[in-house]
Amino acid sequence: MKILVTGGAGFIGSNFVLYWMQNHPEDHLTNLDKLTYAGNLENLASVQNNPNYTFVKGDICDATLVNELVKDIDVIVHFAAESHVDRSIMDPSAFVKTNVLGTQVILDAARNNGNKRIHHVSTDEVFGSLGLGEQTAFNEQTPYNPHSPYSASKAGSDHLVRAYHDTYGLPITISNCSNNYGPYMFPEKLFPLAITNLIEGKKVPVYGDGMQVRDWLYVEDHCRAIDLILQKGKIGDTYCIGGLTEDIPNIVAIKKIIALLGKDETSIEYVKDRPGHDVRYAVDWSKIHNELGWAPQYDFDTYLERMVKWYQEHEQWWKDIKSGEYQKFYKKQYQQR
Ligand SMILES: NC(=O)c1ccc[n+]([C@@H]2O[C@H](COP(=O)([O-])OP(=O)(O)OC[C@H]3O[C@@H](n4cnc5c(N)ncnc54)[C@H](O)[C@@H]3O)[C@@H](O)[C@H]2O)c1
Repeated sequence: MKILVTGGAGFIGSNFVLYWMQNHPEDHLTNLDKLTYAGNLENLASVQNNPNYTFVKGDICDATLVNELVKDIDVIVHFAAESHVDRSIMDPSAFVKTNVLGTQVILDAARNNGNKRIHHVSTDEVFGSLGLGEQTAFNEQTPYNPHSPYSASKAGSDHLVRAYHDTYGLPITISNCSNNYGPYMFPEKLFPLAITNLIEGKKVPVYGDGMQVRDWLYVEDHCRAIDLILQKGKIGDTYCIGGLTEDIPNIVAIKKIIALLGKDETSIEYVKDRPGHDVRYAVDWSKIHNELGWAPQYDFDTYLERMVKWYQEHEQWWKDIKSGEYQKFYKKQYQQR
């Protein structure tokens, strides 16, 4: 099979590329990525010389390029997006361009080349926020109610993907997943920021009182879920993917990280909350469990310990990101040959 992955140099995309190359070595994978600040080819150094892997630096909004690439492939897995809520609050325009218009370009290319199969990776943030202490969780029937420019742009992309299925019969599937964590997570996000700051002897900034609840999904479990959807998912359907069965407030997760690194709670620095901050996300993943047999492989504590260890063992990787050094990698590897 020939597979096109968009955004494969980002956090989840690069984990997916590595996962796919390991579990489906007979397939050919093309990775289309613009290499924004979030794209890091160092994540993919181990596969860059594999004959079944091709990297293309480009923008998903470039219809000519995308159309050319899609001609020759069987399946598209669409990760590329602007993904950081704080950045979307500062400047929503890039989010609308990439997440909405870019998705439309991908959909048109799939449609113009014989209705290619596409899996669209989305977020549970399109459903809005749940109340603290509530027992409810998002599921496939939850109405959309996005609050940030990021989640609004992802909601727009989801609607377009469904519309292309309903209008043109495009064979699509969508997954709405909760917050991912694991290796190669960009150190501006909460867990890796906390881990790397603590290793560097710095404080960990926590928004508000830290009581916001997230549903944490280990990135490898997410990759397995997408694999199952590609193999057995029902065309036209949406699958919610989450990791937890009980609520864990951010501050509790941060305290676990502090304990894993042998530090104490004086390392916490409470900072002004983000505007429109969603208080609680929780995902009911019973559909993908019942229909496709998916479940997280380990519990939160086991995965968190694994993640902390990974950052301890890959100091150069995150130090290069924090210093901006990683942006030179593409030039070194791909332009000076
Ligand atoms: N990280 C999470 O916890 C999470 C949770 C739910 C859903 N998602 C979704 O999963 C997908 C991947 O998220 P992530 O955390 O890996 O994001 P990321 O920001 O780490 O990576 C995004 C990748 O897309 C690339 N990209 C951005 N704009 C592009 C464009 N115009 N053309 C081509 N490439 C472009 C970037 O260079 C980067 O490599 C996104 O669609 C996101 O909405 C993420």
